Amino acid sequence: MMNLSNGYSLYLIVLVSSLPNLSLLSGADPTDGFTEIPLTEANFLLQKPYDIPLEERYSYENGVHKMWVYADDKPHALVQGLDYCSGAWKFEGNVFVPNGTSGATIVQIHGAAHGNTTMLLRIYNGEMRYYTYELVDATNLYDKWCRVNLIHNVDGGLVTVFIDGVQKFETHDHGPGDLYFKCGVYGAPSNISYYMESRWKDIKIYKK
Ligand SMILES: *[C@@H]1O[C@H](CO)[C@@H](O)[C@H](O)[C@H]1NC(C)=O
Ligand SMILES: *[C@@H]1O[C@H](CO)[C@@H](O)[C@H](O)[C@H]1NC(C)=O
Ligand SMILES: *[C@@H]1O[C@H](CO)[C@@H](O)[C@H](O)[C@H]1NC(C)=O
Ligand SMILES: *[C@@H]1O[C@H](CO)[C@@H](O)[C@H](O)[C@H]1NC(C)=O
Repeated sequence: MMNLSNGYSLYLIVLVSSLPNLSLLSGADPTDGFTEIPLTEANFLLQKPYDIPLEERYSYENGVHKMWVYADDKPHALVQGLDYCSGAWKFEGNVFVPNGTSGATIVQIHGAAHGNTTMLLRIYNGEMRYYTYELVDATNLYDKWCRVNLIHNVDGGLVTVFIDGVQKFETHDHGPGDLYFKCGVYGAPSNISYYMESRWKDIKIYKK
């Protein structure tokens, strides 16, 4: 395990090599060839504003991770602590963003050859965008649960986004890196609401 701290955040990454022997796992999805990776609590690590007690920004009840920040907070996210560097990986999670939250990054693939992220998705006024301007989903996503799937084909250099099972977006990734999924809430550089919240449940990781 690595322990990385840059002052504003603290996160742990569980190396892929510490996972159980994947060839012993059952439960492969016959439709797409992905196999679910069994996750334990050790795979989930919280990164929070370093100066604030966790319970003032995070709750976990009935399987729902609720995370909220204010525009003047330090970064905050639920880190899916599982790094990867090759193959094809699929993130799945159900997300709920309340009306009023805007300019918030809710999920990202961290790591890239250049820059810090392979991709990230933000909510602006109920719409989902890839970074700042490119529209992923124009449906009003506020105040309801929706399923987000991110597929990162590392070898092919492609990232695909599905919302409620429908492909909405595909793009090139940003090159190899120490890659992992994060979901939670971060303020974008501009046009953010003072209060930002996202809730996540049923988080799963698959590998092909
Ligand atoms: C994984 O399990 C398979 C099947 O039992 C075995 O052949 C293989 O050597 C195992 N690999 C590792 C890295 O333990
Ligand atoms: C959010 O709530 C406000 C105030 O209730 C309402 O006017 C607005 O239409 C809502 N926006 C969306 C996208 O649901
Ligand atoms: C990457 O993250 C570091 C530390 O948070 C930050 O200083 C830097 O500006 C970021 N780089 C880019 C390209 O966003
Ligand atoms: C932010 O707000 C300004 C002024 O309303 C607008 O011109 C700009 O396009 C907005 N940016 C985004 C990312 O929505």
